[in-house]
Amino acid sequence: TWTTTNVVEEQIALIREQVGTKRAICGLSGGVDSAVAAALVQKAIGSQLTCVYVDHGLMRKGESEQVEKDFVASTGVQLKVVDAEERFLKALAGVSDPEQKRKIIGREFIRVFEQAQAELVAEAGAAGEDVAFLVQGTLYPDVVESGGGTGTANIKSHHNVGGLPEDIEFQLVEPLRQLFKDEVRMVGQELGLPEEIVQRQPFPGPGLGIRIVGEVTKERLDLLREADAIAREELTAAGLDRDIWQCPVVLLADVRSVGVQGDGRTYGHPIVLRPVSSEDAMTADWSRLPYEVLAKISTRITNEVADVNRVVLDVTSKPPGTIEWE
Ligand code: XMP
Repeated sequence: TWTTTNVVEEQIALIREQVGTKRAICGLSGGVDSAVAAALVQKAIGSQLTCVYVDHGLMRKGESEQVEKDFVASTGVQLKVVDAEERFLKALAGVSDPEQKRKIIGREFIRVFEQAQAELVAEAGAAGEDVAFLVQGTLYPDVVESGGGTGTANIKSHHNVGGLPEDIEFQLVEPLRQLFKDEVRMVGQELGLPEEIVQRQPFPGPGLGIRIVGEVTKERLDLLREADAIAREELTAAGLDRDIWQCPVVLLADVRSVGVQGDGRTYGHPIVLRPVSSEDAMTADWSRLPYEVLAKISTRITNEVADVNRVVLDVTSKPPGTIEWE
């Protein structure tokens, strides 16, 4: 019979058999899948696993701390954190085009992650150990979509780290391959992961970088982080987290409008709220949130976030609008 306890026990046995006495690496994104996969592998092989978290500076308020503190505390995992904020901001400077932003963020992410990986392989090698496995949070729908093969990941190293071979070949460990998203959440809960990680709504890999319409700068990210945190706080307080699929909060950095605040005229930026309901993100409808909740979010954002003097609601379904603005 299918129970989360059975799934956990079965996977732990399989992971132990696959990895043996070798070492494994797992990249954490802050999302549910990589967190649950890492927690399962940690339970199976303990200190033979090292996780890597690339902090690109585009996460929402408190999310990096969630990975660095709460996830580590609840699993005991060994974590290597790479603070790459400056590098990402530099690479994004002057760029407004959405596709170009995505490309830059993706490219930098792979470079930073591979460098961290190569360092771990070199360190383990110096200790006479062998890093042979890469853990991935592949789910059943991903398997079906990609035709079902298991594979190896061929990681090209762009950086010369202490005489490593040019290409490091890893075997994949994919303990969630038979599971759907809701089952992954149940497994995560069984493993004792924090609720905020297990129940996390979808969040794009490029993070807030694609929720600033215009150039991405540190100041704009900080501003958006504040506005987003307020929206999330109020949606949670109103008990609406399970009712909506996600609620992107977007900064229109290149738009200004006139307002009046305190004793004077302001010329600030609008924040867009984009709450949506969806089954699978392929199509979506705008969520009919209670007016009181919208009012509270709007009042708080304009009062508490400097340079924002207007909050607007996106009432477009998908299609024609995508969920994200970029
Ligand atoms: P769109 O905007 O295409 O978004 O309607 C559909 C879903 O995908 C998420 N999304 C992404 N997720 N990397 C991701 O991991 C991305 O580049 C990306 N772009 C969009 C979006 O948040 C929504 O859930």
